[in-house]
Amino acid sequence: MWKSIQPAPPDSILGLTEEFKKDQNPQKVNLGVGVYKDEAGNTPVLRSVKAAEKLLLEQQITKSYLPISGDPAYASAVQRLLFDDESDVITASRAATIHAPGGTGALRVGADLLHKFTPNAKVWVSSPTWANHNGIFGAAGFEIDRYAYYDTDNRDLDFDGMLSDLSKIPAGDIVVLHACCHNPSGVDLNSEQWQQVAALAEKNGWVPFLDFAYQGFGDGVDEDRFAVTQFAKSGVDFLIASSFSKNFGLYNERTGAITVVTPSPREASVALSHLKTVIRTNYSNPPAHGGLVATMVLDTPELHTMWLEELAEMRNRIVTMRKMLVTGLAAQGVDGDFSFIEKQRGMFSFSGWSDDVVSSLRKNNNIYVVGGGRINLAGLTTTNIEYVCSSVAAAMK
Ligand code: LMR
Repeated sequence: MWKSIQPAPPDSILGLTEEFKKDQNPQKVNLGVGVYKDEAGNTPVLRSVKAAEKLLLEQQITKSYLPISGDPAYASAVQRLLFDDESDVITASRAATIHAPGGTGALRVGADLLHKFTPNAKVWVSSPTWANHNGIFGAAGFEIDRYAYYDTDNRDLDFDGMLSDLSKIPAGDIVVLHACCHNPSGVDLNSEQWQQVAALAEKNGWVPFLDFAYQGFGDGVDEDRFAVTQFAKSGVDFLIASSFSKNFGLYNERTGAITVVTPSPREASVALSHLKTVIRTNYSNPPAHGGLVATMVLDTPELHTMWLEELAEMRNRIVTMRKMLVTGLAAQGVDGDFSFIEKQRGMFSFSGWSDDVVSSLRKNNNIYVVGGGRINLAGLTTTNIEYVCSSVAAAMK
């Protein structure tokens, strides 16, 4: 049957990693996939995670199946990371949280759940957005449209355009929002802007679906959940896809969660029952290890503190690389004001490098950048920054 079928194109992000791995040039630099790297260019296992794994190894007595929705202790730990202890989402039990395989799995489970009940709703994603949003919601069967987000000329948020587009979205449609550290632009809403968006969701009745893959990479674990708090306060139905790939470095353990926030405990338990049928007919129940590790870290005070410190280390190193990139480009005489890179948040920056620059960097300098000019700042180190900046200067001439 495959004789007449053409191959699918490689994934725009993970396909780039495959190419990078094949590249034999020792100077190669990967600014593509959103994976944290330390100053030595490694993606280490966090110390808190290693310590939790040691404890687990000693304590674990079974590898039997988890419940369809995952370990209840994990769901509770996820909720405490998303909401204040006093939040009525927790005290009134008005949310259902299940363990999903990574942030992508969480988005897909949420998308399948919504499609079951609102197949004719449109899904709205930011312009631009993480390429896989289109893939995931499209695969779930939704029609997808875009709302204004990034102002290319000013390299900033187009908040007026965003608000204007969001105000036209009808009740029941689904709006995908990046809770922090917008992927790919690195440009986020401020507190006042989130309040306005939450008020609009409440007034117009569309369903916010928050993609929360970078909690802790913006300003901190608590600070980064501002958007979540606003939607929770507004009382609307909404969903949150959490990922612990980046903030716990649990990339290949596929550790994420989908949380469906509803107005009442009854609705939360109805949502949970349908989440379970979505999962049972897909992968049956989640892989245990990553969830057990994250729960152990979050529920053990010393490990929790250690994790917050490690997260701050990662966040601060990225901020340092943002600064070094801006000064490095200026030192190489690259034309233009790149100070916007320092204002952006999280792992990514929309560099403003054209497709020609991106392909020249790849061809002539073995520097890998996602099409559209998104760069992962964590791919930069004090060792490779000069090489990257001089390569960019050459590519822009
Ligand atoms: C990214 O955007 O690079 C990450 O979220 C990894 C992925 O799955 O695309």
